[in-house]
Amino acid sequence: MSIEFYIDHESCISCGKCIKECGMHVQIQNCSHVEPDNPECSRCLHCYTVCPDNAIRLKAADSSAGLDPQLMHAITDENLSSFLAYRRSIRSYQKRSIEDGILEKLIDMARYIPSGGNAHSYEFTVLKSDVTQKRIKEELHKIYKFRDQLLNNPVLRNVAKPFVNKQMREFLKSKTYRSRMKELLSRISEGDDPFFHHSPAIIIIHSKDQIPTPKEDAILAGYNICLVAQTLGLGTCFVTLAQNAFNSSRKCKEILNLAEEDNVYAVVTLGYPAVHHLRIAPKPAKQINWI
Ligand SMILES: Cc1cc2nc3c(=O)[nH]c(=O)nc-3n(C[C@H](O)[C@H](O)[C@H](O)COP(=O)(O)O)c2cc1C
Repeated sequence: MSIEFYIDHESCISCGKCIKECGMHVQIQNCSHVEPDNPECSRCLHCYTVCPDNAIRLKAADSSAGLDPQLMHAITDENLSSFLAYRRSIRSYQKRSIEDGILEKLIDMARYIPSGGNAHSYEFTVLKSDVTQKRIKEELHKIYKFRDQLLNNPVLRNVAKPFVNKQMREFLKSKTYRSRMKELLSRISEGDDPFFHHSPAIIIIHSKDQIPTPKEDAILAGYNICLVAQTLGLGTCFVTLAQNAFNSSRKCKEILNLAEEDNVYAVVTLGYPAVHHLRIAPKPAKQINWI
């Protein structure tokens, strides 16, 4: 739902800052302020956040009112760098559940990402129920058993080649992937959960939209969730194994109450970590191409 605003002309001193800052260049001709009703307006609210006279007013209650812009000064380069570098993908969780209020807070904070065209078309499904988790895991198991049969049968591999996408074709060729698939299935038989790491909650981020950038937005939203979760003592892990299976399975979408046109772009497991990381792992150095 887009956020509507209006201009309080009594407060506006026509300084023009809103026009200068408007990313969409939405302006009434010869006027000194942005045009709130213009259909081109993306509701990014840059005009609202720069207005020195608070002349741009929201029509509905401000859902970010509890957040304090001054607090951002409390974050230093040093402590943010350490915080980011300390993050790990957590694959081992305590049996403790996560309160709904905490999950709601994480999803609330996910909305503060940059989003292509300010579209924010992503939606969230939270998978907590043991019964639904069991059903979805059984379905994923079936999907991966089928993929294993396909991958490890040379005749089926050849027959499938023309019908699968480029990524799957690469998988069909890869010996490593074939042996990984076997390993994955044997882990499941032994009671392991390679899809969700026995996490008490899973956030699925999906969108019906194809444009402008639903996939990128969903991944950014997922990463905001990971970061805020870390401040609350929670661990997280992005899981592609489940994500790409969801998109190819009507049954999975049915279990998750998703429409056929929903594309799942990110799946994040969450829980209180059962492992404690004592130090920060170095990451490969990156060469910068200075131009
Ligand atoms: C898009 C994406 C997909 C991932 N998929 C999985 C997955 O399916 N299962 C898993 O255990 N980890 C998954 N991971 C976690 C990566 O394996 C992990 O980020 C990487 O090994 C580095 O570890 P770190 O996150 O602890 O630094 C994924 C991470 C990303 C960003």
